[in-house]
Amino acid sequence: MHIIRHIPELRAQVSAWRQAREEIAFVPTMGNLHGGHMTLVEEARERSDRVIVSIFVNPTQFGPEEDFAAYPRTLDADCERLAGEGVDVVFAPSVAEMYPDGGGLDTVVDVSPLTGILCGATRPGHFQGVATVVAKLFNIVAPDLAVFGRKDYQQLLVIRRMVADLNMPVQVVGAPVAREPDGLAMSSRNAYLDDDERRVAPALHSALSAGAERLARGERDFAAVEVQGREALEAAGFTPDYFSVRRPQDLAEPVGDEPELILLGAGWLGRARLIDNVAVRLTDQG
Ligand code: PAF
Repeated sequence: MHIIRHIPELRAQVSAWRQAREEIAFVPTMGNLHGGHMTLVEEARERSDRVIVSIFVNPTQFGPEEDFAAYPRTLDADCERLAGEGVDVVFAPSVAEMYPDGGGLDTVVDVSPLTGILCGATRPGHFQGVATVVAKLFNIVAPDLAVFGRKDYQQLLVIRRMVADLNMPVQVVGAPVAREPDGLAMSSRNAYLDDDERRVAPALHSALSAGAERLARGERDFAAVEVQGREALEAAGFTPDYFSVRRPQDLAEPVGDEPELILLGAGWLGRARLIDNVAVRLTDQG
């Protein structure tokens, strides 16, 4: 496994693989890798000849009050873990390599209206930072396919929409949420939880699952499901951000008879902001 830090070197490697007609899969990450990332890598490896993982803590997707400085940087441990997983290249650029003009870009990718709701409402500019850096990474890596986790469901939709709108020749694959045995979605930010918070954290998944069950049983008072979800989070000790029932294709509020819905929740537990979602199929309902 090679660790590449510079764009021209990465491009030379990719171009050699292309000449050999090899398919290239890409897994963008911010490092501090956990089991959830490993499922993305596995998905990439099964679908292609070559796997590139990027590790880059992207400053432009963090707000001024957010955890950019504190975000755990564990490159050596990450590379050790990836080396055993059939990854060909880790692309680990510096901030200066990605943003040579001191961080500022004149060109950004803004996928509105998807970026102003849910996580985007609380984290202004976040999805613009994500879409822009992923567009840059796609242009650098030029993969055939890229794998993103469904835990960050809104991010997955933003990327899909960007790829469709801008005709990017990349197949976007969404991988299922990887969970701890007690249901907590795997996330780098789980490392911020102390023991008590860690015990409480699965309440987010439980509240979403309870809401999904109500919908599956025929409940159509979405506002009531949302209120109950928020209350369950508060009762567990979360400071809820949102608990919402949405359409999975565009995250709009459901209007009529939807074949499928998605419940999304976010909340703070101590200094960790946790997010999760549960999809529910309603096609069996009479
Ligand atoms: O999901 C993440 O880790 C990041 O948002 C991504 C996609 C690597 C962009 O920085």
